[in-house]
This record gives sequence, structure tokens and C-alpha cells, in this order.
Amino acid sequence: MNKKLLVANWKMHHTRISAENYFANFFAALPAKLWADRVELVFAVPYTLLATVSTILKDKLGAVAAQNMHWLDKGAYTGEVSLPMLADLGVGKVVLGHSERRQYYGESDESVALKVKAALQAGFSPIVCIGEILGERQAGKTSEVIAGQLAAVFAQISTCKQLIIAYEPVWAIGTGLAATSEQAQEVHQLIRQIVTKKFPEDGSEVPLIYGGSVTSANIAELMQQAAIDGALVGGASLSGDGFAELVNSLL
Ligand code: 13P
Repeated sequence: MNKKLLVANWKMHHTRISAENYFANFFAALPAKLWADRVELVFAVPYTLLATVSTILKDKLGAVAAQNMHWLDKGAYTGEVSLPMLADLGVGKVVLGHSERRQYYGESDESVALKVKAALQAGFSPIVCIGEILGERQAGKTSEVIAGQLAAVFAQISTCKQLIIAYEPVWAIGTGLAATSEQAQEVHQLIRQIVTKKFPEDGSEVPLIYGGSVTSANIAELMQQAAIDGALVGGASLSGDGFAELVNSLL
């Protein structure tokens, strides 16, 4: 995979006006012709901005993603958003199982798996987040945790077409302490082994991306690792200028 997949995760940031300013700055700093054949961009934005950002990106390269969804199409689930609702806004990608959702909103391996299954069935591309917490790494349990999280998802799905997996060690998220490129490479290799074992035909094509304190200072080295196909970027994606600088450091 030569083209790197860069996913900006805005989390709970931005409003319509600030999103418009963001893209004005981003595209001014980085005309699409510069990056179109080197990177693929996805912006995972709050639900309230999906329509605005889809419209802004319409004639540009770059796709919009939601940050969560329900696995059912409709029903009495106050506060939830379904796949048909996202599709209605032109959204075709969704981040699932982010550690913040697992940590603060009780997302389990099982609920994440149901969501991934529903997303794939609806023709969406789910960006599935997995990763160990610090105590698990220190206890030497990283491989076990990764294998367990993947097993839960793989128990529910029979295709990996459109699947994207993000390795986000929880201890690296928002801490300024990114995994070293060796640590990231090692876990990505493990994930690739597990994915290709489950899907021998096309598991090698599933993009595996790294997230956790990625910045314009460390992205180039991380992306040089053969097993890393892209990045999921939180804090460093929040300003249009800053994210343009990050993309630019890969070109
Ligand atoms: P940071 O880049 O802010 O560490 O966040 C990573 C992340 O959670 C992306 O999904």
C-alpha cells in the first residue's frame, strides 16, 4: 500500500463556522494536487458536522466519517444514530470501538463487533479501533488483548472488504507519548498475521493504521514502517493549518 490513509479524528470539537474556517485554511495550505496521489484523507467529525463537511468535501478529495453509530437501522433508542441516517448524509465510513467510547460509554467487544457487522453489511467502511491500556502492556499482555479484540469482531463478520483497523495503544492517546515506530510496527505485524489467517484471500489488503499522539514531528518515521498503512490523528488534526502541516510532512 503506497498511498497512506490519514484519518483526522476531531472527537468533540468544532462547529459549522469553525469547520468552514478549518477547510479554508487546510486547502489554502495544501492544494489537493499536492497530496492526491500520496495520501488518502478521511475526516471523522461530530454528527452535527457530517452534512456540512460532506458538502465542503464534495468537489474535493477526502471523505467524511462518523465517530460512532447504532447497529440497528431504527427503533426506540433515544440519542442514537443509525447507518441509514448516516448514508442519507452521504457518509460511508464510521469509526467504531474507539477507546474513549469503550472507556466512557461502556462499549464492549461484543457491541463493537455488532456495529462492525452491521456497517459492513450496509456497505460502509468501518475504522475499527483496538489497543491495550498501559497496565496490559506492562504486564506483557498486548498480544493477548489485540488478539481478543480482533477475535470478537471476527466472530461476527465473514468479509474484510472495506474493513480498516486502527491500532491505538490507549496509553499513547492524547498523552504526547506515541508508540515508537518499532512498537507500532511489531503490533501491526501481529494484527496483519491475525487478519490474513482469518481472511487468507484478501486480508493482506485491509489497511492497518496507527493512532496515538501522531504529530507532524513523528508521522514520517511511523509511516516508513512497512506494516503501517496510515494514521488516525486526534489532537494534531484539530486545526486546518496544523493538519496540513502534518500531511505536508509526508509529501
Ligand atoms: P491523539 O492524536 O490526540 O493522541 O488522539 C489519538 C486518537 O484517539 C485518534 O483517534
